[in-house]
Amino acid sequence: MSSRICDSVLVTGSNRGIGLELIHQLVESPSRPEQIFATCRDPEGPRAQELRELAQKHKDVIVIVQLDTTDPASISQAAKTVGSKLKDGSLNLIINNAGVNVHLELCSTQEKDMVDTYRTNVVGPMFVAKEFLPYLRKAASQFHNQTDMSCRRAAVINVSTLVSSIQRCPENFARAPMYAYRISKAALNMLTRCLAEEFRKDGILVMAIHPGWVKTDMGGQKAPVLPEDSVKGMLKVISSLTEKDSGTLLDIEGHSIPW
Ligand SMILES: NC(=O)c1ccc[n+]([C@@H]2O[C@H](COP(=O)([O-])OP(=O)(O)OC[C@H]3O[C@@H](n4cnc5c(N)ncnc54)[C@H](OP(=O)(O)O)[C@@H]3O)[C@@H](O)[C@H]2O)c1
Repeated sequence: MSSRICDSVLVTGSNRGIGLELIHQLVESPSRPEQIFATCRDPEGPRAQELRELAQKHKDVIVIVQLDTTDPASISQAAKTVGSKLKDGSLNLIINNAGVNVHLELCSTQEKDMVDTYRTNVVGPMFVAKEFLPYLRKAASQFHNQTDMSCRRAAVINVSTLVSSIQRCPENFARAPMYAYRISKAALNMLTRCLAEEFRKDGILVMAIHPGWVKTDMGGQKAPVLPEDSVKGMLKVISSLTEKDSGTLLDIEGHSIPW
């Protein structure tokens, strides 16, 4: 990254996997943001150990904030906490990364799997966008060029997936017949499109990104893409987004994926 991606960024589910790698690369970039809000549902627990160590090393930049995307009270409290720490009350970028996948076929999928997955992968990102909207609006309003849209100004990035694509379903369904995950991420795409329409008047960009099939707890050991490479691609795409990209689903090379 040559110029600063943005001044302030918030990432959900930042204690492991792609989220943790996002925090690593954001803070280690020579053009790093001034404020990085690394949120996770259990900041004191063992799964956040590596994040705590990273935050300790970069005390001036990383702030860990408790945020469980399935708990509206937690999202609202996180918004208050972040709001009290933001410079000028402006937040440039939200990366809705937290997600779950139960890897279940039709016969083994229970109602609870559908509801829990939807709550994390769709309702969570929606309420994060809603609760943090005042800070995004403030950031967008302060930008010198009122016609530009970018993550330097104000943006929401929803981490989606190739398997959310209804058009591409016939070619990849047999390899990944995971109902709850696919359906929830297709709904996340619609959320992306709705928010893009609603926030356009405020100059806030909203898009969805497919990180690749990534070697994490969710992606598994057979995944061909390392988190380092996925996040490098994600940040390259995110930092070059313009108005034409709002309301789209892109991969880590910036190619469009059909809905
Ligand atoms: N890996 C892939 O191949 C792949 C492919 C396409 C898309 N994606 C998407 O990329 C994103 C990150 O995936 P990943 O591979 O990094 O998965 P991961 O290794 O399983 O990590 C998931 C992260 O989400 C957090 N999370 C889950 N539920 C949460 C909740 N209710 N509140 C807050 N945080 C929560 C987890 O926190 P805890 O430690 O507290 O559980 C963890 O930090 C997801 O949205 C996923 O759908 C991944």
